[in-house]
Amino acid sequence: DMLVKVGKYLEPFSLSVEKLQEVSAQLQKDMIQGLGKYTHHRASVKMLPTFVRATPDGTEKGDFLALDLGGTNFRVLHVRVMEEEQKVLKMNSQICAIPQEIMLGTGEQLFDHIAECLSEFLDSQKLKQQTLPLGFTFSFPCEQKEIDKSILIHWTKGFNCSGVEGEDVVKLLKEAIHRRGDYDIGSVAMVNDTVGTMMSCGYRDRSCEIGMIIGTGTNACYMEEMNNVKRVEGEEGRMCINTEWGGFGDDGSLGDILTEFDKVVDKTSINPGVHIFEKMISGMYLGEVVRLVLIKLTEEKLLFKGEASAALFTPGKFETRFISEIEEPDSGLKNAKQILTKLNLKWDLVDAHVVRLVCDTVSSRSARLCAAALATIANRIRLNRGLDYLKTTVGVDGTVYRKHPNFSEELQAAVRLLAPKCDIKFLVSEDGSGKGAAMVTAVAQRLALQSR
Ligand code: BG6
Ligand code: GLC
Repeated sequence: DMLVKVGKYLEPFSLSVEKLQEVSAQLQKDMIQGLGKYTHHRASVKMLPTFVRATPDGTEKGDFLALDLGGTNFRVLHVRVMEEEQKVLKMNSQICAIPQEIMLGTGEQLFDHIAECLSEFLDSQKLKQQTLPLGFTFSFPCEQKEIDKSILIHWTKGFNCSGVEGEDVVKLLKEAIHRRGDYDIGSVAMVNDTVGTMMSCGYRDRSCEIGMIIGTGTNACYMEEMNNVKRVEGEEGRMCINTEWGGFGDDGSLGDILTEFDKVVDKTSINPGVHIFEKMISGMYLGEVVRLVLIKLTEEKLLFKGEASAALFTPGKFETRFISEIEEPDSGLKNAKQILTKLNLKWDLVDAHVVRLVCDTVSSRSARLCAAALATIANRIRLNRGLDYLKTTVGVDGTVYRKHPNFSEELQAAVRLLAPKCDIKFLVSEDGSGKGAAMVTAVAQRLALQSR
């Protein structure tokens, strides 16, 4: 009886295969709108050209710097691309903390901070006298004009620095470096993290033509036929498109699957109305969705004998990593008990089971929605190429995909249902963004040399 009542609140989270097919059909339409020359301005799925036209051919080489901003960690890397062994080596890397004041401060403070981290890293690696090319993984939606000109459309996730939206990020970075004057960098290539992830897997597996992130945020990129990319001149070959699928639903198209909890998560976020799809899926928000459901169930006296705690009422206190810990097949229940105790909740065994069910429900929905979106891309690539059957590889990264005990299995199972004519291999990338950004820089250099 109690479980039936709990079920009533969890019902709206369960999406049938038919529903997922509808979601996929809607996304397909939105992708076409985003690609269109005259329709992209009002598209919720932005479909941004990346100016990455070729995946690695194995002749690239050299030393590169890479910056990786927008995931859990800001990192600075020194990367070597080796032609002979066909591999990319991470020589060294360093994580730099970005304090919250800077994430919400001015653009100048942000780029000064980045330039300072890079300076310290170059000192420690004795690289300051060299002028190395730099790959900049910047995981936000950017209107790219060229590989080294990239205008931030708007911030997403936890960032909101003033004076950056509408500006060229490469210019802001270079200005900050020149303000210091203690080192310089060579040519710059800007990439989204999805693109970095795809490119780094592409070096190992030439059929890697999709990059996907399910971490703090969620997004994917893929190789699109140039004749479909109406915003960029030229009909030949392919270009990587950064879909920014996190923005799916920003025009209200997902209204019928949004729950009351999703609406609260959106309203209380720093960017209401922006990235509705992402807020149902990614690590920055999943914990919040669970927390709100737990509050509701407590208010309905279906949990903790109707007694919540101050911690449960505090935004952010139910961390997304708790979901992974609670769903662990062996230690999950034990973890649940520890977490509930830490949150000052008076739980019994039934409560622990209900909390686990809530976590499972919310993370399953996330995996299935991602699957619907990924299947849409795979189906599109297959039809683009007029194939009966597509074999392809997806490069993946992000803490939700990596750390959750069964997220990847659920996602893959749903993709098989939604894209039955595609055989998709999933490759988790290691240091994907850093190595990938270096690869993009290297490929850009190779193409520039070849065209001379
Ligand atoms: C990292 C990549 O490993 O994964 C980043 O290097 C990417 O570029 C990140 O943004 C995504 O995962 P998360 O969970 O850190 O946001
Ligand atoms: C957000 C960003 C997007 C990025 C994704 C994953 O959706 O807008 O650019 O790829 O997060 O980090």
